[in-house]
Amino acid sequence: MVKLIGPKKIKTAVFISGTGSNLKNLIKFSLKKNSPIEINLIVSNSDGAKGLKYATLYQIKKKIYNFSKKKISEKRTLKDLKSNDIKLICLAGFMKILSKDFIRKFKGNILNIHPSLLPKYKGLNTHQRVIKNREKYSGCTVHLVNSKLDSGKIILQKKVKLSKNETPSSLEKKILKQEHKLYPRAVSKLFANL
Ligand code: GRF
Repeated sequence: MVKLIGPKKIKTAVFISGTGSNLKNLIKFSLKKNSPIEINLIVSNSDGAKGLKYATLYQIKKKIYNFSKKKISEKRTLKDLKSNDIKLICLAGFMKILSKDFIRKFKGNILNIHPSLLPKYKGLNTHQRVIKNREKYSGCTVHLVNSKLDSGKIILQKKVKLSKNETPSSLEKKILKQEHKLYPRAVSKLFANL
């Protein structure tokens, strides 16, 4: 009997530095039949990243490089991406900035999720700054990565309303919940015409 093999999924690497809740969520999404991606590699800049437990849990290859030696780490990462035939990188809480050279050499798409309504509040400590400025709304953005920080083409955004007594930590939780919905949707949107 001939086995029917479905359309091939896009080989994806997820880069993390910390908790990895977006990573976990992307893995779960990738396991769905209608997901356009499969996750074949997890890259972390720290062996202390909690999210690395998902590599063990879901039996996904992991690589840990200390990006403080950026050139060497990027070179090794590019080699791994190539040998695993990776076509998409999802940055998910990855706290290192990839060089122009890396972005140019990796010929696939690179996505990032940022916890603000870009172009507002690029960079770090977004929730503190949003609250300090008494914004009524904040949110999250999935965007393509280019050589400028948090500046590539926006794929999808989700707005959230701040409550009266919002704190950076309550806002973080509120936005993270939305991030988990937004990232898979943005990935699906990016590959909608395949
Ligand atoms: C998320 O808020 C993401 O937007 C930001 O870093 C956080 C990572 O959270 N870039 P997690 O590691 O996915 O739980």
